[in-house]
Amino acid sequence: MEEPHENGATATGAGLVVVANRLPVSLERDADGAERWRRSPGGLVSALEPFLRAHRGAWVGWPGVGGTTRGSWQDGELLLHPVGLTVEEVDDFYEGFSNATLWPLYHDVVMPPEYHRHWWEAYVHVNRKFAAAAAEAGGPGATVWIQDYQLQLVPAMLRDLRPDLRIGFFLHIPFPPVELFMRLPWRTEIVQGLLGADLIGFHRPGGARNFQWLARTLAEAEAGRPVSDVGDEPGRLTVGDRTVGVGAFPISIDAAELDSLARRPDIERRARRIRADLGNPRKIVLGVDRLDYTKGIDIRLRALHELLAEGRISARDTTMVQIATPSRERVEHYIRMREDIERAVGRMNGEFGRVGHPAVHYLHTSVGREELAAFYRAADVMLVTPLRDGMNLVCKEYVACRHDLGGALVLSEFAGAAAELTDALQVNPYHLEEVKSQLARALEMGPAEARHRMTAMRGHVLTHDVSHWARSFLTALRGGAAAQGGVPAQAGETVGEPVGAADRALT
Ligand code: ADP
Ligand code: F6P
Repeated sequence: MEEPHENGATATGAGLVVVANRLPVSLERDADGAERWRRSPGGLVSALEPFLRAHRGAWVGWPGVGGTTRGSWQDGELLLHPVGLTVEEVDDFYEGFSNATLWPLYHDVVMPPEYHRHWWEAYVHVNRKFAAAAAEAGGPGATVWIQDYQLQLVPAMLRDLRPDLRIGFFLHIPFPPVELFMRLPWRTEIVQGLLGADLIGFHRPGGARNFQWLARTLAEAEAGRPVSDVGDEPGRLTVGDRTVGVGAFPISIDAAELDSLARRPDIERRARRIRADLGNPRKIVLGVDRLDYTKGIDIRLRALHELLAEGRISARDTTMVQIATPSRERVEHYIRMREDIERAVGRMNGEFGRVGHPAVHYLHTSVGREELAAFYRAADVMLVTPLRDGMNLVCKEYVACRHDLGGALVLSEFAGAAAELTDALQVNPYHLEEVKSQLARALEMGPAEARHRMTAMRGHVLTHDVSHWARSFLTALRGGAAAQGGVPAQAGETVGEPVGAADRALT
């Protein structure tokens, strides 16, 4: 065996390898063919990139456009291994099976999933490509950590290629109730793919339990230790002669880094400037999301619209800013949702805006970390209203930036973060009157209540940060006791033995 380097890497591969659909940077191609690299969107990259950089690991992923091939390169402390996808693979694997089958299915079918055999075939083929790239990137005995729903077959494929590796898998989106998962024509293959890992992590104990049940029902895994709610070792399954860990590891952010960024005088100045540019309204309401139908952007716009129409708030003193990162722009549901949201914004501004003072400032763009921190500092109310979200990091980022203990957070009970941020004003996003009343309450919240709530939320976010999450997972993967989050069960989760699934008609 080769001598490992300081970081566990050997001359023939890295000691710690992250495998994710996207690299942490994505290539963008303009209409005129010019290319530039940008930070990849989404919570997975926000959470994992700083951690992996600190550990000088390697990252295997797609560079973000179809039809490009290039070799590995070093990006600061990170070694990047691109997996090239053809234009057809992007259509069928990424936009098709990942984002038009699995994404809506795993998010409680908030849009109808589509099932196409050729999308599935592309998913199998591309997962095989990722497994081959990961097998090449990992040094002898390396730890390989596979991420998210796009790569659920990679654990078993990689185990076949490299039985010497320690393989972890983490799902960044909700794992669905068994009744929904059972609709998937390729449900058994997915469960078997995941069971190739030594440890499978979910955000919430309910998701982990659902998976345990499915593994026993579909893949003849034998029950071992059940998944518990409170700080404990992960649950266990036996698969042939192997043991597979299954546990809940709620992801988080680099809270200390954001906290100190938000304390910088230039960020404070920028926050004041933002307020002034908005016309110094009494209250600023903020939404920050990928432009995704799961995020409930339409719901918060509707709530604001009705409050304005009923005269309970006035556009003269309350201004909303919605910053929406473009996302999956060729997928049908996303195209329609963007049109609906932009129409709703236009209508509100037409009805309630004045020259130079729209009711809603809508930015269809991604902003940098410093600008984002300034917006969080400027916002009196943060609206996070997903219909379903695995965790949601935006709400944790807002809390991390509020060292002044000001600001109010309105949070959907169907975001994974709701189980941790119990001092937020929680709402059922399907209950419009409740969203309206909690938004109105947040706008009127006094400083003492805001301070009390923010202190409690910051206490949690600053201690349960991304390195706590990654350490818990990797410790459990390497056989140590897992310091799990220990958060109570939450709305919408199947807890305990799920019933009523096995007797469903199969597709
Ligand atoms: P998801 O992974 O589904 O996109 P999360 O809330 O978990 O949702 O993570 C989103 C991440 O992307 C956060 O780190 C957030 O700061 C970042 N983000 C979202 N919208 C924007 C935006 N418009 N500009 C910059 N960053 C954004
Ligand atoms: O977990 C959410 C997630 O789908 C990540 O896998 C992904 O990196 C992010 O959102 C952004 O989505 P996309 O890579 O499809 O732009």
